[in-house]
Amino acid sequence: MSLYKTLGFVNTKEMFKKAMAGKYAIPAYNFNNMEQLQAIIMGCGESKSPVILQVSKGARSYANETLLRYMGQGAVEMAKAAGYNIPIVLHLDHGDSFETCKACIDSGFSSVMIDGSHHPYEKNIEVTKKVVEYAHDHDVTVEGELGVLAGIEDDVEAAKSVYTHPDEVEDFVARTGVDSLAISIGTSHGAFKFKPEQCTKNAKGVLVPPPLRFDILEEIEKRIVGFPIVLHGSSSVLPEYVDMINSNGGQLKAAVGIPEEQLRTAAKSAVCKINIDSDGRLVVTAMIRKVFKESPAEFDPRKYLGPAREELKKMIIEKNKNVLGSAGQA
Ligand code: G3H
Ligand code: 13P
Ligand code: ZN
Repeated sequence: MSLYKTLGFVNTKEMFKKAMAGKYAIPAYNFNNMEQLQAIIMGCGESKSPVILQVSKGARSYANETLLRYMGQGAVEMAKAAGYNIPIVLHLDHGDSFETCKACIDSGFSSVMIDGSHHPYEKNIEVTKKVVEYAHDHDVTVEGELGVLAGIEDDVEAAKSVYTHPDEVEDFVARTGVDSLAISIGTSHGAFKFKPEQCTKNAKGVLVPPPLRFDILEEIEKRIVGFPIVLHGSSSVLPEYVDMINSNGGQLKAAVGIPEEQLRTAAKSAVCKINIDSDGRLVVTAMIRKVFKESPAEFDPRKYLGPAREELKKMIIEKNKNVLGSAGQA
């Protein structure tokens, strides 16, 4: 039996099948520390949502890869003890090589992303196929990527978005054997997804970014009918948390994300997985800044990490219920 199954994880196969049929998306939340992981499990447990726990290369080096894998295992046990009956995937985010993907599979991950999007097309196919062969031998699912998101993809810096070419997707999926495909339709990583000059202003003076390229998504859906699509860079950069950061000593200027309405639309399509990291970072930072400003004598980390964890849990429940539609689907 695959190691991840003995640890209590599932791969993405069934999850994506149900998400496709039910017209919702599975949340993929990144974690780097205990409080983020607790908030994800509590938020998804309380809202009865399936969840993908996402670990980046940066998270592996920050938190220590051995500890992280045991934290993932601990999350499964915590969910069980709390009576949450939710499927949990442990997923490598933006795997940069066969070796990293193999190391994660060998240590108990149930899903990996191999991000070959910065390679020329044929090289992307070669590295992705190699990962798929190894992963499928262990019943682990694989996410590939075609097209490059604007912003920073881990070590890969892309000056501007190169949208996924619909003409390539059928060939890529057939030749690599991937289980899902991340595409580029205008999302990007981080809290500064669009320059102010790319945006318009609404009545309240809030910057409104250009819409995602749903026309490209539709074209892709026609070429690979019923195939699970993944959206990276899908934080909404919620203004209430940006404001909280700025009114408590922070300096985040012109932070713009993907409007929730567009994510709701995407979740009803073949998009089965939506990646969210920056929104969690903003919530945690906002709450810590608030406590520091209001209680400058506080020095017990539980007194500021605790409120941050609570607010992150609330944000996750809200997203699962009102944006991705995954609440109640576990
Ligand atoms: O897509 C990137 C994720 O937000 C992870 O970011 O590499 O800073 O951990 P990180
Ligand atoms: P955000 O930076 O928009 O949260 O995207 C996260 C992501 O794509 C992780 O792979
Ligand atoms: Zn990403």
